[in-house]
Amino acid sequence: MNEAEYARFCETEPAGYGAEMAAAGEWSAAEAPARAQAEFERLLPEGRATPGHHVRTIRRAEDAAVVGLLWWSYRPAAAETECFIWDIAIDPAFRRRGYASAALAALEAEARDAGALQVSLHVFGGNRGAIALYERIGYRSTHLKMSKPLR
Ligand SMILES: CC(C)(COP(=O)(O)OP(=O)(O)OC[C@H]1O[C@@H](n2cnc3c(N)ncnc32)[C@H](O)[C@@H]1OP(=O)(O)O)[C@@H](O)C(=O)NCCC(=O)NCCS
Repeated sequence: MNEAEYARFCETEPAGYGAEMAAAGEWSAAEAPARAQAEFERLLPEGRATPGHHVRTIRRAEDAAVVGLLWWSYRPAAAETECFIWDIAIDPAFRRRGYASAALAALEAEARDAGALQVSLHVFGGNRGAIALYERIGYRSTHLKMSKPLR
Protein backbone atom coordinates (compact mmCIF):
# COMPACT_ATOMS: atom_id res chain seq x y z
CA MET A 1 0.00 0.00 0.00
CA ASN A 2 1.18 3.47 -0.71
CA GLU A 3 0.74 6.24 1.85
CA ALA A 4 -2.67 7.38 0.59
CA GLU A 5 -3.96 3.81 0.42
CA TYR A 6 -2.73 3.14 3.95
CA ALA A 7 -4.33 6.36 5.25
CA ARG A 8 -7.67 5.23 3.83
CA PHE A 9 -7.18 1.77 5.31
CA CYS A 10 -6.62 3.37 8.75
CA GLU A 11 -10.01 5.09 8.44
CA THR A 12 -12.04 2.18 7.12
CA GLU A 13 -10.49 -0.82 8.88
CA PRO A 14 -11.26 0.00 12.54
CA ALA A 15 -14.73 1.27 11.62
CA GLY A 16 -15.55 -1.95 9.77
CA TYR A 17 -14.17 -4.15 12.54
CA GLY A 18 -16.08 -2.25 15.22
CA ALA A 19 -19.31 -2.57 13.24
CA GLU A 20 -18.80 -6.32 12.84
CA MET A 21 -18.06 -6.80 16.56
CA ALA A 22 -21.18 -4.82 17.46
CA ALA A 23 -23.31 -6.74 14.95
CA ALA A 24 -21.99 -10.01 16.40
CA GLY A 25 -23.01 -8.88 19.89
CA GLU A 26 -19.43 -8.94 21.17
CA TRP A 27 -19.31 -5.21 21.92
CA SER A 28 -22.02 -2.61 22.45
CA ALA A 29 -22.58 -0.19 19.57
CA ALA A 30 -21.49 2.66 21.83
CA GLU A 31 -18.15 1.16 22.83
CA ALA A 32 -17.32 -0.52 19.51
CA PRO A 33 -15.61 2.39 17.68
CA ALA A 34 -13.17 3.14 20.52
CA ARG A 35 -12.41 -0.53 21.20
CA ALA A 36 -11.82 -1.23 17.52
CA GLN A 37 -9.53 1.79 17.22
CA ALA A 38 -7.53 0.71 20.29
CA GLU A 39 -7.18 -2.84 18.98
CA PHE A 40 -6.08 -1.56 15.56
CA GLU A 41 -3.42 0.68 17.10
CA ARG A 42 -2.23 -2.15 19.36
CA LEU A 43 -1.76 -4.42 16.35
CA LEU A 44 -0.07 -1.86 14.13
CA PRO A 45 1.85 0.45 16.50
CA GLU A 46 4.26 1.42 13.73
CA GLY A 47 1.67 1.59 10.99
CA ARG A 48 2.44 -0.31 7.81
CA ALA A 49 6.09 -0.57 8.97
CA THR A 50 5.09 -2.65 12.03
CA PRO A 51 7.50 -5.62 12.08
CA GLY A 52 5.93 -8.91 11.02
CA HIS A 53 2.80 -7.28 9.57
CA HIS A 54 2.02 -7.05 5.88
CA VAL A 55 -0.71 -4.71 4.68
CA ARG A 56 -1.10 -4.99 0.92
CA THR A 57 -3.42 -4.01 -1.85
CA ILE A 58 -4.69 -6.71 -4.19
CA ARG A 59 -4.22 -5.58 -7.77
CA ARG A 60 -5.64 -6.81 -11.04
CA ALA A 61 -2.92 -8.33 -13.23
CA GLU A 62 -4.03 -6.65 -16.50
CA ASP A 63 -3.77 -3.01 -15.42
CA ALA A 64 -2.71 -3.01 -11.73
CA ALA A 65 -6.08 -1.53 -10.69
CA VAL A 66 -6.69 -2.00 -6.96
CA VAL A 67 -9.46 -4.53 -6.35
CA GLY A 68 -9.02 -5.20 -2.63
CA LEU A 69 -6.71 -5.58 0.34
CA LEU A 70 -5.02 -8.29 2.36
CA TRP A 71 -3.49 -7.87 5.84
CA TRP A 72 -1.61 -10.63 7.62
CA SER A 73 1.16 -11.25 10.12
CA TYR A 74 3.35 -14.08 11.31
CA ARG A 75 2.35 -14.78 14.89
CA PRO A 76 5.14 -15.00 17.45
CA ALA A 77 2.69 -16.75 19.79
CA ALA A 78 2.74 -19.70 17.44
CA ALA A 79 6.57 -19.75 17.35
CA GLU A 80 6.37 -17.90 14.05
CA THR A 81 4.92 -20.93 12.36
CA GLU A 82 1.49 -19.44 11.79
CA CYS A 83 0.49 -16.91 9.19
CA PHE A 84 -2.61 -15.13 10.54
CA ILE A 85 -4.88 -13.21 8.18
CA TRP A 86 -6.31 -10.14 9.90
CA ASP A 87 -8.43 -9.11 6.95
CA ILE A 88 -9.13 -9.76 3.33
CA ALA A 89 -11.61 -7.65 1.40
CA ILE A 90 -12.48 -7.32 -2.27
CA ASP A 91 -14.28 -4.18 -3.45
CA PRO A 92 -17.95 -5.04 -4.10
CA ALA A 93 -17.65 -4.30 -7.83
CA PHE A 94 -14.96 -6.97 -8.20
CA ARG A 95 -16.38 -9.82 -6.16
CA ARG A 96 -16.97 -13.38 -7.43
CA ARG A 97 -14.21 -13.07 -10.03
CA GLY A 98 -11.63 -15.14 -8.19
CA TYR A 99 -9.52 -12.27 -6.81
CA ALA A 100 -9.70 -13.38 -3.16
CA SER A 101 -8.91 -16.97 -4.12
CA ALA A 102 -5.92 -15.84 -6.19
CA ALA A 103 -4.64 -13.51 -3.46
CA LEU A 104 -4.93 -16.25 -0.84
CA ALA A 105 -3.08 -18.70 -3.09
CA ALA A 106 -0.27 -16.15 -3.53
CA LEU A 107 -0.18 -15.60 0.23
CA GLU A 108 0.06 -19.34 0.87
CA ALA A 109 3.12 -19.56 -1.37
CA GLU A 110 4.74 -16.55 0.29
CA ALA A 111 3.97 -17.81 3.81
CA ARG A 112 5.32 -21.26 3.02
CA ASP A 113 8.55 -19.67 1.77
CA ALA A 114 8.69 -17.62 5.00
CA GLY A 115 8.58 -20.84 7.03
CA ALA A 116 4.94 -20.77 8.15
CA LEU A 117 3.35 -24.17 8.70
CA GLN A 118 -0.25 -23.04 8.56
CA VAL A 119 -2.44 -20.13 7.66
CA SER A 120 -5.34 -19.13 9.91
CA LEU A 121 -8.04 -16.50 10.26
CA HIS A 122 -11.16 -15.60 12.19
CA VAL A 123 -14.50 -15.27 10.46
CA PHE A 124 -17.88 -14.33 11.92
CA GLY A 125 -20.44 -17.13 11.71
CA GLY A 126 -22.87 -15.00 9.73
CA ASN A 127 -20.37 -14.32 6.94
CA ARG A 128 -21.58 -17.17 4.78
CA GLY A 129 -19.84 -15.96 1.61
CA ALA A 130 -16.41 -15.78 3.24
CA ILE A 131 -16.92 -19.16 4.94
CA ALA A 132 -17.90 -20.71 1.60
CA LEU A 133 -14.72 -19.29 0.06
CA TYR A 134 -12.44 -20.55 2.83
CA GLU A 135 -13.98 -24.02 2.88
CA ARG A 136 -13.67 -24.27 -0.87
CA ILE A 137 -9.93 -23.58 -0.76
CA GLY A 138 -9.19 -25.96 2.11
CA TYR A 139 -9.69 -24.12 5.42
CA ARG A 140 -11.36 -26.07 8.23
CA SER A 141 -12.90 -24.80 11.46
CA THR A 142 -10.69 -25.17 14.56
CA HIS A 143 -12.83 -23.24 17.10
CA LEU A 144 -16.54 -22.63 17.11
CA LYS A 145 -18.21 -20.18 19.47
CA MET A 146 -22.00 -20.63 19.58
CA SER A 147 -24.60 -18.40 21.18
CA LYS A 148 -28.37 -18.15 21.53
CA PRO A 149 -30.26 -14.94 22.29
CA LEU A 150 -32.21 -15.01 25.57
CA ARG A 151 -34.40 -12.03 24.73
C1 LIG B 1 -15.26 -12.79 1.15
C2 LIG B 1 -14.65 -12.03 -0.04
C3 LIG B 1 -13.25 -11.58 0.34
C4 LIG B 1 -14.59 -13.00 -1.25
O1 LIG B 1 -13.90 -12.34 -2.31
P1 LIG B 1 -14.13 -12.77 -3.84
O2 LIG B 1 -13.00 -12.23 -4.65
O3 LIG B 1 -15.50 -12.39 -4.24
O4 LIG B 1 -14.02 -14.35 -3.75
P2 LIG B 1 -13.75 -15.34 -4.97
O5 LIG B 1 -14.25 -14.76 -6.25
O6 LIG B 1 -12.32 -15.78 -4.94
O7 LIG B 1 -14.71 -16.56 -4.54
C5 LIG B 1 -14.37 -17.89 -4.80
C6 LIG B 1 -15.48 -18.81 -4.33
O8 LIG B 1 -15.78 -18.58 -2.93
C7 LIG B 1 -17.20 -18.72 -2.71
N1 LIG B 1 -17.81 -17.42 -2.43
C8 LIG B 1 -17.22 -16.21 -2.44
N2 LIG B 1 -18.11 -15.25 -2.10
C9 LIG B 1 -19.29 -15.87 -1.88
C10 LIG B 1 -20.60 -15.42 -1.50
N3 LIG B 1 -20.86 -14.12 -1.27
N4 LIG B 1 -21.58 -16.34 -1.36
C11 LIG B 1 -21.33 -17.65 -1.57
N5 LIG B 1 -20.11 -18.15 -1.96
C12 LIG B 1 -19.11 -17.26 -2.10
C13 LIG B 1 -17.76 -19.26 -4.02
O9 LIG B 1 -17.61 -20.68 -4.00
C14 LIG B 1 -16.80 -18.62 -5.03
O10 LIG B 1 -16.77 -19.29 -6.27
P3 LIG B 1 -17.89 -18.93 -7.39
O11 LIG B 1 -17.92 -17.43 -7.54
O12 LIG B 1 -17.36 -19.65 -8.61
O13 LIG B 1 -19.19 -19.49 -6.89
C15 LIG B 1 -15.53 -10.81 -0.45
O14 LIG B 1 -16.87 -11.23 -0.56
C16 LIG B 1 -15.45 -9.65 0.52
O15 LIG B 1 -14.60 -8.78 0.42
N6 LIG B 1 -16.38 -9.60 1.50
C17 LIG B 1 -16.42 -8.49 2.49
C18 LIG B 1 -15.23 -8.55 3.44
C19 LIG B 1 -15.19 -9.88 4.16
O16 LIG B 1 -16.20 -10.40 4.63
N7 LIG B 1 -13.97 -10.40 4.31
C20 LIG B 1 -13.72 -11.66 5.02
C21 LIG B 1 -13.30 -11.35 6.43
S1 LIG B 1 -13.05 -12.86 7.35
